[in-house]
Amino acid sequence: MSNEIMLNNFLADDELNENQLIALIELAIKIKNNPEQYNQALAGKSVAMIFEKPSLRTHVSFDMGINKLGGHALYLGQQNGKLGERERVSDYAKNLSCFADAIVARVFSHDSIQGLAEHASVPVINALCDVYHPCQALADFVTLTEQFGDVSKVKLAYIGDGNNVSNSLMIMAAILGVDFTLVTPVGYEAEASIIDKTQRLANESGAKLNIISDINNIGAQNVIYTDTWISMGDEDTSKKAEVLAHFAPYQVNHALMKSTEASIVMHCQPAHLEEEITTELFDSDMAVVFQQAENRMWAQNAVLVSLLADK
Ligand code: NVA
Repeated sequence: MSNEIMLNNFLADDELNENQLIALIELAIKIKNNPEQYNQALAGKSVAMIFEKPSLRTHVSFDMGINKLGGHALYLGQQNGKLGERERVSDYAKNLSCFADAIVARVFSHDSIQGLAEHASVPVINALCDVYHPCQALADFVTLTEQFGDVSKVKLAYIGDGNNVSNSLMIMAAILGVDFTLVTPVGYEAEASIIDKTQRLANESGAKLNIISDINNIGAQNVIYTDTWISMGDEDTSKKAEVLAHFAPYQVNHALMKSTEASIVMHCQPAHLEEEITTELFDSDMAVVFQQAENRMWAQNAVLVSLLADK
């Protein structure tokens, strides 16, 4: 089982270089096409999965994906208290390292991911935090590779809240040389530090990065991506009506697909139908949302094999 990808952890997209990313995408597709070849890759290995937030795809795809690799997954919800409250993050990391071969964590704060990685003696995988969602972005570039072959020719636009999903997507796009347009309403832009980081990576790869607020300037695209306008942890029910009104012009619908000439729409799910995307478009042949969902498992399995196989 080859391991030229050489990962220690999988924490944030910008920690990967182009060669590692391409190798991970290729490995994910290889595992997807030859699952039996990898069905003992994690034999005898156990993965502890910490979830501070709800999850459908991430929980199921890690659990069943680890099972498909011959390993054992343990789900840890909030029954043991909040990370850093009942026990320090460092103690959580050190205790889990006594038993587990890797730690998967979905957390509120990126600081918790960094704390786990700093103190664990086993690899840590970021399964979503406030800043990044690297497993999702990797799965999305697996999906785009399946759809287009050479992703460097693809023009990809994300419309909506500047959040963890858009951060990871645009960083990976910049590393891979994919032209990327980020369309966020005023007040919901990506953090300046993330934009600066992405611009530096785009300069290195030669990708174009276009950051706008006026959706009328989106231009021609191949793929439109959207995500919820209100992420987990940001829910403030008193502000919901205000947020929905502010974001309404940014809804992804058939008219937008037509005006941008895009042929594919992507969504990480859960989708809030008739908010960021219309039901009609989500249910249409243009949507690759379930291919994205399935590829979560293959992408994560590529990460797990790279981190754990033969070690
Ligand atoms: N931005 C969303 C992604 C959910 C998979 C959230 O953080 O809730």
